[in-house]
Amino acid sequence: MRSCIYRLCLLIYFFFCLYPLVFCQLASNQKQLMINISQQLGISNSPWNSTKEPNPCRWEGVTCNIPLNNSIVSLSLSGFGLSTSNFLPMFCQIDSLQSLNLSNNILVSIPVEFFNSCGRIDGLKSLDFSNNKLVGSLPTFHKFVGLESLDFSFNSLSGSINSQLNDLSALKILHLVLSKNNFTGPIPTEIGIYQNLVRIDLSFNSLSGQIPASIGNLTKLQVLILSSNKLTGLIPATLSSITTLRRFSANQNKFVGSIPSNITKFLSILDLSYNNLIGGIPWDFLSPSNLQTVDLSYNRLEGPIPGRMSSSLIRLRLGSNSLSGPISSIDFASLKNLMYLELETNSFTGMIPPEIGSCSKLALLNLAQNQLNGTLPVELFNLTNLQVLKLQLNKVGGEIPSQIGQLRMLSVLNISWNSLNGIIPSSISNFRNLVNLNLQGNNLTGPIPDQISNLNSLLEIQLGENKLSSKIPSMPLNLQISLNLSWNLFEGPIPKTLSGLFSLEVLDLSNNKFSGEIPDFLLGLSSLKQLILSNNLLSGVIPKFSQHVSVNTSGNPGLQNATTNYPVSSNKRTRIAVTILSTIAAAVLAIGLVAITDLLIRKYIHKTERILR
Ligand SMILES: *[C@@H]1O[C@H](CO)[C@@H](O)[C@H](O)[C@H]1NC(C)=O
Ligand SMILES: *[C@@H]1O[C@H](CO)[C@@H](O)[C@H](O)[C@H]1NC(C)=O
Ligand SMILES: *[C@@H]1O[C@H](CO)[C@@H](O)[C@H](O)[C@H]1NC(C)=O
Ligand SMILES: *[C@@H]1O[C@H](CO)[C@@H](O)[C@H](O)[C@H]1NC(C)=O
Ligand SMILES: *[C@@H]1O[C@H](CO)[C@@H](O)[C@H](O)[C@H]1NC(C)=O
Ligand SMILES: *[C@@H]1O[C@H](CO)[C@@H](O)[C@H](O)[C@H]1NC(C)=O
Ligand SMILES: *[C@@H]1O[C@H](CO)[C@@H](O)[C@H](O)[C@H]1NC(C)=O
Ligand SMILES: *[C@@H]1O[C@H](CO)[C@@H](O)[C@H](O)[C@H]1NC(C)=O
Ligand SMILES: *[C@@H]1O[C@H](CO)[C@@H](O)[C@H](O)[C@H]1NC(C)=O
Ligand SMILES: *[C@@H]1O[C@H](CO)[C@@H](O)[C@H](O)[C@H]1NC(C)=O
Ligand SMILES: *[C@@H]1O[C@H](CO)[C@@H](O)[C@H](O)[C@H]1NC(C)=O
Ligand SMILES: *[C@@H]1O[C@H](CO)[C@@H](O)[C@H](O)[C@H]1NC(C)=O
Repeated sequence: MRSCIYRLCLLIYFFFCLYPLVFCQLASNQKQLMINISQQLGISNSPWNSTKEPNPCRWEGVTCNIPLNNSIVSLSLSGFGLSTSNFLPMFCQIDSLQSLNLSNNILVSIPVEFFNSCGRIDGLKSLDFSNNKLVGSLPTFHKFVGLESLDFSFNSLSGSINSQLNDLSALKILHLVLSKNNFTGPIPTEIGIYQNLVRIDLSFNSLSGQIPASIGNLTKLQVLILSSNKLTGLIPATLSSITTLRRFSANQNKFVGSIPSNITKFLSILDLSYNNLIGGIPWDFLSPSNLQTVDLSYNRLEGPIPGRMSSSLIRLRLGSNSLSGPISSIDFASLKNLMYLELETNSFTGMIPPEIGSCSKLALLNLAQNQLNGTLPVELFNLTNLQVLKLQLNKVGGEIPSQIGQLRMLSVLNISWNSLNGIIPSSISNFRNLVNLNLQGNNLTGPIPDQISNLNSLLEIQLGENKLSSKIPSMPLNLQISLNLSWNLFEGPIPKTLSGLFSLEVLDLSNNKFSGEIPDFLLGLSSLKQLILSNNLLSGVIPKFSQHVSVNTSGNPGLQNATTNYPVSSNKRTRIAVTILSTIAAAVLAIGLVAITDLLIRKYIHKTERILR
């Protein structure tokens, strides 16, 4: 059946298009117009060039309706580098135009005549002027009875949005995108009469005032994005009556009051972060079945976290509020799709519940800066997809279970500032992707496991303020951000295992019992910016470090500055010079030897050849 239609199409195509060529030509008035326009674009190497390609329908961005009625349907000049716009009204002579895309150019203005004449094209559905350099106020739209999509985002338009769109109200407009401009003033109350609106994006402007309650009248609205403005007042409860609304983002504004209880009823995505919302999270707020992403972080919400949550949830962010109570009230068993859980910087209490181990898709878990206590449940380490685990600044005690090694995907592990004791398990050798390891500020004892040297992704090791001791193993050679072993019980000479860390920027060995001289190999750590050796038992002369390194050696009674005016490293420089000289000498010698040998061999071969001849 399909192939029949296909053959029929081919037949029609050959019949109309290849045989009598005239049928496949663009109507001659449109063709001439397009050629006229192409001469006015004012850009070099224009993709529209009638010398290169006489048929405008084959030009980049031109779509023609051929063979049906030989006319142009859509034009995209996106990214053409256009800076002049005087030719724009010429497009309005194309009656068949449905879509005009001028995005990603450098236009600063649009002639008024364009809006006056293009409004007459009843079939024009889409206008895209996004990502230009348009200034001034939003143009006024007359007629445009068929317009469905209007995109002026990423420009520098300013002033208020009010009467310019009035004529569109009874019409079809579906998508209104005015984000990333400099619009001020309120969202017009009249927005409620654009009954066909499906998508409104007014984000990244300077709009102020309240969200008009009339927005609840937009019964087809699916996406409402008001992020990054200066909007105030309450979140209107009428939003909960829009059964089609899937995404509501009003983050980074100045909304106050409490969250209306049922606005999540139909939503998939809700973002109200960075506002001044107060009160509790309504008990059934997180349970509606479509809910996938909720971000309420950076508000002033308080009270407990609702236990019942939607099994569709993928991302839940409640950080930086004043929420309290146990997190064990969450029904983790139902959160089969949860990938990101961020509850940091609140006042949650109690233990990390073992049930968390059943959220098997979890990739990021941030419970930092709460008042969680108890021990690390081994079930936590069932979360084998975990890439970021942040538990710092809590009161978690006990030992680090060796099962932690099951988290093979980890790239960030931060359990600093808790009350962990016992040793660092050698199973950390599994962390092949680990970039940041932070166990600072606990009560960990014993040695640093030798296996740490295999963790080649590590850029940062923070082990300060523990009770670690014994010999320091080789460190991964890519370390860059910091190696912090301060405030531990290390003793003996500064270990040779620290040489070779040529990318390391901060080395903190302070507040231990390191003794002996400051070794010369530290001078060779060429990326070093900060070296902290204070409060140890080091002795001897402080070597002369490059001026790019800030060195703190205070609190080592046995250390002294070099007494001569000659920097200590001048010795070293001489040594290097001598080494270089002798290397060159050796090379010269070697080359000489080779040359002599070569000569001898050639002579020999020559001789032999002569003998053989
Ligand atoms: C194209 O330009 C020529 C010369 O400027 C003009 O005579 C002609 O009317 C124009 N044609 C159209 C279709 O605009
Ligand atoms: C059009 O193409 C011709 C032939 O390649 C070239 O000489 C001419 O400069 C081009 N015109 C423009 C406006 O780029
Ligand atoms: C040509 O076809 C397009 C799309 O089907 C339509 O919008 C336009 O009005 C037609 N033009 C004429 C002249 O029939
Ligand atoms: C306009 O063109 C750009 C670049 O091709 C594209 O990303 C954008 O979706 C187009 N706009 C519309 C409304 O189709
Ligand atoms: C908005 O206006 C401010 C000050 O008038 C200006 O600095 C900023 O660049 C403008 N932003 C845009 C996107 O035009
Ligand atoms: C729009 O909403 C307002 C306030 O919610 C209401 O008073 C008004 O009757 C509604 N208008 C229409 C046309 O539905
Ligand atoms: C919204 O929630 C309140 C209180 O929970 C309830 O009385 C009201 O009926 C709900 N409204 C809708 C539209 O579901
Ligand atoms: C954790 O994994 C172990 C097996 O590795 C399994 O027996 C246990 O039931 C899992 N626990 C949870 C909470 O998923
Ligand atoms: C954990 O903290 C709670 C109060 O937040 C306290 O009742 C409980 O005894 C603490 N548990 C442990 C093991 O310290
Ligand atoms: C770990 O937590 C500490 C304490 O809050 C913080 O200073 C540090 O930046 C964190 N590091 C990472 C990689 O999260
Ligand atoms: C470490 O242990 C000592 C005594 O065992 C205790 O006084 C101290 O508070 C502990 N430090 C931390 C950070 O838990
Ligand atoms: C070494 O010299 C520095 C700077 O001149 C001085 O601050 C420091 O106290 C001296 N240290 C000793 C051990 O003399």
